[in-house]
Parts: sequence; C-alpha cells; structure tokens
Amino acid sequence: MEYKIFKTKEEIAICAADFFCDALAKNPKTVLGLATGSSPIHTYKELARRVTDDGLDFSGVSTFNLDEYCGLDGSHHQSYRYFMEENLFKKVGILPENVHFLDGKAKNFDVECTRFENELRSIGPVDLQLLGIGRNGHIGFNEPAEKLHSACFRVELAPETIKANQRFFAPGEEVPRSALTMGMGTILSAKKIVLIATGESKAQAIAHMLKGEISGQCPASFLRTHRDAIALLDEAAARNLMQ
Ligand code: F6R
Repeated sequence: MEYKIFKTKEEIAICAADFFCDALAKNPKTVLGLATGSSPIHTYKELARRVTDDGLDFSGVSTFNLDEYCGLDGSHHQSYRYFMEENLFKKVGILPENVHFLDGKAKNFDVECTRFENELRSIGPVDLQLLGIGRNGHIGFNEPAEKLHSACFRVELAPETIKANQRFFAPGEEVPRSALTMGMGTILSAKKIVLIATGESKAQAIAHMLKGEISGQCPASFLRTHRDAIALLDEAAARNLMQ
C-alpha cells in the first residue's frame, strides 16, 4: 500500500480531489464509494469548489456510502445521509436517483444489507472508494475483531468509536450504539481506494495499517492486500512511521 505525507489538510484534499477528477475524466458515470466524518470534509469542499470554478460534472456519477447509524432516518441531522446531503450531494449536483445508502430505519437490517449489497453488485463495482480510519483501525464500521465480515452487516459499535463520535453530537444527545456498514469484502472490491488520515489520534492505527501484522485487530491493515490503495496522511498521523 502506497502512502504520501502532506503538510496540511488542504493539500491532502487537493490530492484526493485529483483522484476524483481522474476517475471522472476516464468515466463520467463513475461509481464512487464515500465516507463521512471529519477526514473527507476538506476533499468534499474542494470538489464543490471545482464544480463551481472548473465545471466538474457529477451528473452521471453514482454513489454508495460506507455506513449509516441504526435508528436514524436519513433526514435526521446526525445521520450520515444528512451529512452527505449537506457536505457533498447538494453542492456538486449528484442526482438523488444515483445516491445509494444503507437505511438505518429499515425494518429488517439483514434484508436491508442484502438489498444494498445487491444494488452495489448491479451498478458497481466501485471505481473509487474514499475512506477515513478509526483510532482503533476500523474502516467503514468494521471494528477490530477476530473474524471480520465480508458483506454488509449490522455492527455493534466499539466503545472507543462511540466515544470518538460523541464530538459530533450535542451534549445529552446519544451516539447510536449500532450501525449498518459495508463489509471488508465490499470495501476491498473497489477498483481504487484512497484513505485519508490526519492528526495524532490516528498515528497508532496508521502505523499498524502500514507496518503491523495484517489482522482483524486492525481491519485497515487488510488494505495492504489491495492492488491499488493509497493513504494520504499529514505529519501527525504519519508520526509513528518514522520511528
Ligand atoms: C465514516 C466511516 C468511519 C470514519 C472513521 C474516521 O463513514 O466509515 O470509518 O471514516 O471513523 O472518522 P473521522 O474522519 O471523523 O475521524
């Protein structure tokens, strides 16, 4: 797995946005795999800028998001669907019919995971998958475990993930305890994978991902088995690589 180290989040965003532009230049009907959270925010801003300033065109693109909290409707302000609408979809003009999301309010989560997986199989594979990484090495919401899941599934979030994500919720608002997520096989079936990590809190996970044992203890370490995966890091996230 290749990695590059940058000085600022903005430089990372420019590099990540370049990968999107390359994919779109090759195929205007590119299938994108997308992440939420703080890691992709600057990339989404940069993409929105390129739409306004450079005429980048997302009208043919299909998107599949990695995950969604169980129990939250897509219109809930803490849902990942809402995050995507606010930070990307409405800014770059992705057509609603081309947006694919796991439904956190589905009546039957197993059926919902199968529906999403089948939809991805019929439209995909994902050409370009954007990822963040959890402090514990999760990707999507594939939390560290002895046995990882290949396909989409319902996951109980790790206590450290709930704690880390509390920062996005108002005081008194509870972080959902479970989520639906793409599985490891789903993620690894993307043609190209770009992972973004910034800040010291990610340094340990990044060192394990790139240099540690490939194991369920750091799900992101399996990205090293992918033929076209790159990590875009700032110096703080890359800190433990220099030792
Ligand atoms: C979000 C996702 C998660 C995050 C990870 C890092 O859709 O799948 O794996 O990428 O928890 O989150 P941030 O970027 O907020 O540090």
